[in-house]
Amino acid sequence: MWTSRFNILAFLSVFVARYCTYALRDVTTELFGAENYGTVAAFGDFNSDKQTDIFVIREQSELVIFLADLKTPYFKPKVQNLKDALPRDTVITSVVPGDYDGDSQMDVLLTAQTSPKAAATAVYIFWGNNQTLDMGWLRLNKTFTDQPLIMDYNGDMIPDIFGTTEHTEVCYLTKRDQKWKSALSSPVKLRIPHSNAFIDLNKDFTADLFLTTEGPAFETWLSKDGDFTKAEVMPAKAPASIVGQSSFVDFDGDGYQDHLLPACLDSACQRSAIYLAKPGSQEWVPVLSDFQQRETVWSFVPGNLSQPLALHLGDYNLDGFPDALVILRNTSGSGQQAFLLENVPCNNVSCHSVGRMFHIHWDQSDLGAIQNAVIATFFDIYEDGILDMLVLSQAPGKNDLIIHALKNNFEADAYFVKVMVLSGLCSNRCPEDVKPFGVNQPGPYVMYTTMESNGYLKNASAGQLSQSAHFSLQLPYTLLGLGRSANFLDHLFVGIPRTPGETNMRMQEWTAIIPNSQLIVIPYPHNQPRSWSAKLHLTPSNSVLLTAIVLIGVCVFILVIIGILHWKEKSQGCVGRNTHIQNRTVWRHSLNFYRECIGLESLTVRSPTAAFLLCSEENCTSSVRCGGDVQILHAPKISKWLSQAVVSSECIRV
Ligand SMILES: *[C@@H]1O[C@H](CO)[C@@H](O)[C@H](O)[C@H]1NC(C)=O
Ligand SMILES: *[C@@H]1O[C@H](CO)[C@@H](O)[C@H](O)[C@H]1NC(C)=O
Ligand SMILES: *[C@@H]1O[C@H](CO)[C@@H](O)[C@H](O)[C@H]1NC(C)=O
Ligand SMILES: *[C@@H]1O[C@H](CO)[C@@H](O)[C@H](O)[C@H]1NC(C)=O
Ligand SMILES: *[C@@H]1O[C@H](CO)[C@@H](O)[C@H](O)[C@H]1NC(C)=O
Ligand SMILES: *[C@@H]1O[C@H](CO)[C@@H](O)[C@H](O)[C@H]1NC(C)=O
Repeated sequence: MWTSRFNILAFLSVFVARYCTYALRDVTTELFGAENYGTVAAFGDFNSDKQTDIFVIREQSELVIFLADLKTPYFKPKVQNLKDALPRDTVITSVVPGDYDGDSQMDVLLTAQTSPKAAATAVYIFWGNNQTLDMGWLRLNKTFTDQPLIMDYNGDMIPDIFGTTEHTEVCYLTKRDQKWKSALSSPVKLRIPHSNAFIDLNKDFTADLFLTTEGPAFETWLSKDGDFTKAEVMPAKAPASIVGQSSFVDFDGDGYQDHLLPACLDSACQRSAIYLAKPGSQEWVPVLSDFQQRETVWSFVPGNLSQPLALHLGDYNLDGFPDALVILRNTSGSGQQAFLLENVPCNNVSCHSVGRMFHIHWDQSDLGAIQNAVIATFFDIYEDGILDMLVLSQAPGKNDLIIHALKNNFEADAYFVKVMVLSGLCSNRCPEDVKPFGVNQPGPYVMYTTMESNGYLKNASAGQLSQSAHFSLQLPYTLLGLGRSANFLDHLFVGIPRTPGETNMRMQEWTAIIPNSQLIVIPYPHNQPRSWSAKLHLTPSNSVLLTAIVLIGVCVFILVIIGILHWKEKSQGCVGRNTHIQNRTVWRHSLNFYRECIGLESLTVRSPTAAFLLCSEENCTSSVRCGGDVQILHAPKISKWLSQAVVSSECIRV
């Protein structure tokens, strides 16, 4: 007894210790070998092997795709030859993978500037074919004033290119033909750098358009039956005059996307804050304003075109509330480093209306060890459903940034669901037998509702690839934490953008999803959500495996015990041809048992106090006595009449 109690205590303490650790492990060499330099620009599964690859820009002019592999180094670089396409002195400013021509193979869009000073942004698209980019390329014959937003303007599930040329325009590239259309019904002056987003803001499972405009100000264009209409959903004015990039997450777990905005409170950016606006509310709520670590005050680094001030979001501890990674600088010194902001319950009146706030992990030594960090983002190394980190840092005298990979050794009893919505342009039979994986699809919206262990309903939602420009570094799928409830997900809803004029929601619901699984949703055909298919890939975590082993062990144990008992009873009951029942009372069920013993010739019921009336309809040869033994000899029909025997606790004389 004592030892078992001790064991339970030991198990619990190990468990608690595990739950509380946020240890990181540097796995840069395992992942990249000596190739860990360049600017990480985008993520996407280029070679359709269901593993996310990394797109890196080197020397501002070279595109390297790090393909995920099973052997170390886990990422193998594949250099793309762009020399023929790009003029000399071109600076590549961003990379956006996606299927731009609708052939279900991943193409790669690059934005480039001929010199860093020239404002015009040229767009090049390299056509993917059989997992290479050697098929040729296209240069859009208009330039943009800033990097465009990759979105699905017309709801055909083929990414379109939205931005400002002379006015606001969208370019469709279906079948590799450029078609330009003017977009939006009234002119907008987009801010540079923009953080426009293609995300559902009114929970109708259809992506809306959020624009960052000069001012700084914001505009929301809701998708009304597939047409974008200006609406006042989010606050139009910014809470401060210097703001960073907007991002969208379900910060408080109500199923709605919230607008998060980092801001500087003075022109030198000595004081910083992160604000949040909920859809339908005109109020900005500070969710982080305390940047003081003992004597040191930290602050945001004011952004510029190549390194905008941005939050990178992801649910690091799978509690269902998204956390963030951010770069801060020491206001009294010169150092800057990456910090993890954990989403915790609000403990200040100022964030009361949201119920959550950010808490800075000051003592994260592995992040602190990386000097001069410039970008930090979440990435799932080894695709195990737990978000790890990539940190880029500037080294003196080097042109390229250094890539650091930190593995998150978080091993709590927490669960996740990973959802990837594909284009659904084809389902099983795709042209040229390609697998429709890896086509980064902007616009799908995912929401779950589930019962928490405390009995409350919990929601969480996320948009897939809502932003594309200025190193927004979003993953090509959504990863939602479920907390520590290992229940089935009660409901999972998936919606995709609508074509203009379509009044029905393109939304489907799946029930009872197993946690720790990857769901690949193929919305084919687009306008018949009932026919959409979802493929489940299980990623059993250690704890799930452990549970399974324990369960099987318990089953085996119980089976063994049942076997032993059964064998004992049999050996007691049916050994020999004469059988004795020595129990004081013999109940019907044990008589039934004896009836099943084949070849039973005699039966003695030994009972000093009770009497037994054993009889059948035809054959009632047994003697019935009160007290003592009841012996039945020569009973050829014993099996029959025992089934009708009556056991009485009183003496009955016949
Ligand atoms: C695709 O490329 C592989 C080699 O990389 C080749 O074996 C295969 O035949 C190619 N498939 C098509 C359809 O061209
Ligand atoms: C743009 O390119 C297309 C071919 O892709 C061509 O037909 C069209 O004339 C070009 N437009 C302009 C304005 O150059
Ligand atoms: C979750 O969503 C459901 C349905 O949309 C709603 O009834 C419920 O109040 C939401 N729960 C929370 C905690 O917001
Ligand atoms: C952007 O800012 C970073 C540091 O804040 C600086 O190193 C970099 O040179 C700047 N880039 C441009 C184009 O101004
Ligand atoms: C911030 O910079 C000041 C001045 O260089 C230095 O004294 C202080 O230790 C730094 N704080 C941290 C946490 O590194
Ligand atoms: C509460 O929030 C206010 C305003 O954001 C801030 O000034 C104050 O320091 C916060 N208090 C605590 C204890 O964090």
